[in-house]
Amino acid sequence: MKLALDTDRVSLIQGDSFKVLESFTAQSFDTIVTDPPYSPHTHKMLGKERPADGRQIFRKELDFPPLTPDRIAELAYQFVRLARGWIIVFVDWRQTGTWGNAIERVGGEWIRVGAWVKTSPMPQLTGDRPATGHEEIVIGHATGEGLAWNAKGRPCTWRGGRDAGYGDEPHPNQKPAWLIQSLIGMFNPTGGIVLDPFFGSGTTAIGAFAPERLEGEMLLETSCKACAKKHLEAYHPPLPVDARVVGIEGAQKYIDLSIARINTLSPSVLAA
Ligand SMILES: C[S@@+](CC[C@H](N)C(=O)[O-])C[C@H]1O[C@@H](n2cnc3c(N)ncnc32)[C@H](O)[C@@H]1O
Repeated sequence: MKLALDTDRVSLIQGDSFKVLESFTAQSFDTIVTDPPYSPHTHKMLGKERPADGRQIFRKELDFPPLTPDRIAELAYQFVRLARGWIIVFVDWRQTGTWGNAIERVGGEWIRVGAWVKTSPMPQLTGDRPATGHEEIVIGHATGEGLAWNAKGRPCTWRGGRDAGYGDEPHPNQKPAWLIQSLIGMFNPTGGIVLDPFFGSGTTAIGAFAPERLEGEMLLETSCKACAKKHLEAYHPPLPVDARVVGIEGAQKYIDLSIARINTLSPSVLAA
């Protein structure tokens, strides 16, 4: 375990998340926002694509292992132990229930399933079944008590595309920074500490510290006319305020990538 980056606002630990999480004191973080590996099935299928014309296209396989239900149970235990508030986890839809139930089994509460609805999803190349148009987000809470978030009556549905440049991205699973900015703005209290134990290319820091609102939108379709005005007034989700971020990442190349991305932020943004 090694401290790869340490500024006033962001610390990045290089190591195996499962071991590093054990080393933290209980309730050290306000909010967990993370995008861990997916199920063995999804990892396997990411390695190949078969378009309707019968060709087989091999994509580069992911260079980190998938999560089994036992590993999810270990992570859920640590997340509930370490968080004081919200636990926000991007999940593979095959494992949504596994994650939600694992959080509840260790005393946390599974509150909702959110969705990132993609505006430009990958089409289903075989043409024989629907393409996947969204990613699921398990929204849990460490205690289920004294719930509070910063986004009033908004739904937990976000719509938007990947960040520009996707396709040349050096990280195969990079999440859009606008979405992470929105999640941190909504769920993390002012000055709160966010933990991301699967830091990848550091999008959690980019979302937490971007000096302006990033592109993307929430779905606010509602049948309640009386609510509509209130929704529209509150259309823009709140931005993160004075967040601090602790990240954990195992792979040297993604540590280097995160630091390079964080270094594009102005030093004044990273000062407390
Ligand atoms: C799905 S990616 C996260 C991508 C990230 N949200 C982004 O926008 O760049 C998961 C990351 O977790 C890392 N990882 C997987 N298992 C790990 C472990 N046991 N310890 C530390 N890092 C791990 C992988 O190297 C990978 O970069």
